[in-house]
Amino acid sequence: MPIEDITQKVSDRYANAASTGEQMCCPTSYDMGYLKTFIPEEVLKISYGCGTPAGLKTVRAGETVLDIGSGGGIDCFEASRLVGPTGRVIGIDMTDTMLAIARKNAVVVATNLGYPSSNVEFRKGLADAMPVDDGTIDLIISNCVINLAPDKRKVFREMYRVAKPGGRFTISDIVADQTVPQYLVHDTQKWGDCLSGALTLTDYMNGMTAAGFFGIHLMKFSPWRVIDGIHFFSVTLTGYKIPPATTASSVRYATLRGPFSRLVDERGMTYYRGIPQSITPDESRLLSLPSLSEHFLLTTEPIPLDNHDPRWRAVLPADAPCTWQGHYALLAGPFVEAADDDHHVYRRGEPLEVCSKTVAVLGTDGYQPHFVLLNRAGEGAGGEAVTCSPDGGCC
Ligand SMILES: C[S@@+](CC[C@H](N)C(=O)[O-])C[C@H]1O[C@@H](n2cnc3c(N)ncnc32)[C@H](O)[C@@H]1O
Repeated sequence: MPIEDITQKVSDRYANAASTGEQMCCPTSYDMGYLKTFIPEEVLKISYGCGTPAGLKTVRAGETVLDIGSGGGIDCFEASRLVGPTGRVIGIDMTDTMLAIARKNAVVVATNLGYPSSNVEFRKGLADAMPVDDGTIDLIISNCVINLAPDKRKVFREMYRVAKPGGRFTISDIVADQTVPQYLVHDTQKWGDCLSGALTLTDYMNGMTAAGFFGIHLMKFSPWRVIDGIHFFSVTLTGYKIPPATTASSVRYATLRGPFSRLVDERGMTYYRGIPQSITPDESRLLSLPSLSEHFLLTTEPIPLDNHDPRWRAVLPADAPCTWQGHYALLAGPFVEAADDDHHVYRRGEPLEVCSKTVAVLGTDGYQPHFVLLNRAGEGAGGEAVTCSPDGGCC
């Protein structure tokens, strides 16, 4: 199917849904009761997202927020409330019917929020060629849209272009646990259903990395549908456009504290717990991002750590038999590879089967934010206990 055909058919599908009020896509966890206090029903009933990218404490007062594929405007209006009257929100959509509903309700929402005028602007445009100036956006959000775009890499490059240095994205979308086969890719109905265009999580994250973003990690992950054995998930991802250095930093070394025994970051640097590593200013800025910084000592001199140092962290599995119960651990990032103290090597976005002892380890503080735990034992697991060998033989 030619690219223009996909785009036109998706647009027709959403124009039709907007005019009939058809229910589509996935349940989100918005507090609709609260949104109803300032967003008209006409907008809420055509909310077709698969997450809550504006509702995860990501939006800050005074920011400029861009919503890619804004539809009826639900996320723009929630962002409008969160940025406050001094902030701005831009919604981009390719479908006139959606834009008309969103524009009409912008004035109503501004009045309900007590703003002197609306701080939301809806522009017609495509996700892969956005009518937005370079480097002007603090936060990019998007809710169940990028899967609908035929050329995702172009969309990711556009996101990087419009983000301010130091800007970031939080987007919700649908991904698949394997490459979507051609018979589904060429099914027009399933494009509109947010299925045919779904990437794997690894391809999604790697695409963002290739566009220039760093610190890419999962914030939310929930199963959605299974079609012909392919599992589709709703995910919410965050990442950053790292700003260039403005002042010389005195940081020259990084020492991994743990609990991971080894990490590989998105720049390909490998760190072993306790061993100081010489780093560049660019690397220092990467390791200073939220969700990476707590794992490192960033210092001017090399500081080795050993297991007597209170800054050293390790979580060992219980010395007890293990049971296989159908659990898989998925590394949420922002590291591309990570090892624990029990011979497991996790790769970002790829589920790895783990037994009960490892599930307990990954539920502890230092590990927990970096993993999604799935259970694939559809009919339950027998749960026979096995004893691991000292070198980690069973799991
Ligand atoms: C699943 S709906 C989601 C709408 C909105 N984000 C929400 O949460 O309700 C997808 C929206 O993205 C728009 N859209 C799809 N592909 C697009 C593209 N390539 N460029 C711009 N808009 C697109 C559609 O017109 C539609 O309004």
